[in-house]
Amino acid sequence: MRFVFLGLPGAGKGTQAHVLSEQVDIPAISTGDILRQQVQDGTPLGIEARTYMDRGEYVPDATMVRMVQERLREADASKGFILDGFPRTVAQAQALEDALADAGTPLDAVVKFTISDRIAIRRITGRFTCPVCKRTYHVEWHPPTVEGVCDLDGARLEKRSDEDELTVKRRLATYRTQTEPLETYYWERGLLREVDAEATPSEVSARMIAALADVT
Ligand code: AP5
Repeated sequence: MRFVFLGLPGAGKGTQAHVLSEQVDIPAISTGDILRQQVQDGTPLGIEARTYMDRGEYVPDATMVRMVQERLREADASKGFILDGFPRTVAQAQALEDALADAGTPLDAVVKFTISDRIAIRRITGRFTCPVCKRTYHVEWHPPTVEGVCDLDGARLEKRSDEDELTVKRRLATYRTQTEPLETYYWERGLLREVDAEATPSEVSARMIAALADVT
């Protein structure tokens, strides 16, 4: 099973990718998480990426394509994967399509999680993330059992450096110009499935599972 998740920042891609990953036992691969790890480790890629991420812009396509191709060669991805946050441009989508065609392993479906800009901003400005397991919480809608602490591994939750309202608005604008064209791209290929993501996390999970019932 090979899936791509699309949607505005804050649409719940990461949240739902973890749910589906546990349900069907394939890895959820978040390019945002991989980049943030590189930033934390102070690698050349991390230093380059941070300048783009903090401005709400995308990291260059060539860098992203190379990074994802390397990740997909790891053993756990041989049984399938959920790509959360990649591709984000038509050039990235074409590179992914070519690589998967060469391997004879095309995508099964692309899920687009739909929310309004207003909800996206509220979700992101209220989010806290576990630095260890990368799960996300929300101050209002999905609080941890103990304030500031991850339910799963007890790590102290953190805010990301691109979560202030101005940067979120820039990220929304970047999505509109660079990623929205992918919806047409995947619709033309018969792969796009839309999930209304303005509901509780468990309701959105149920909608996602129903939307993928024929390919899971
Ligand atoms: P990335 O980390 O991928 O950020 P994003 O796509 O902007 O998405 P988010 O992680 O902010 O949101 P999400 O949809 O995963 O929502 P979540 O589940 O966390 O990328 C960051 C940056 O890296 C980019 O801006 C770019 O610079 C760079 N980058 C990454 N990939 C790239 C690429 N391919 N090319 C170029 N550059 C790239 O949920 C959000 C919050 O809402 C959480 O608090 C959650 O608990 C809560 N929540 C979730 N679902 C619900 C619900 N149903 N109801 C209420 N609350 C909910």
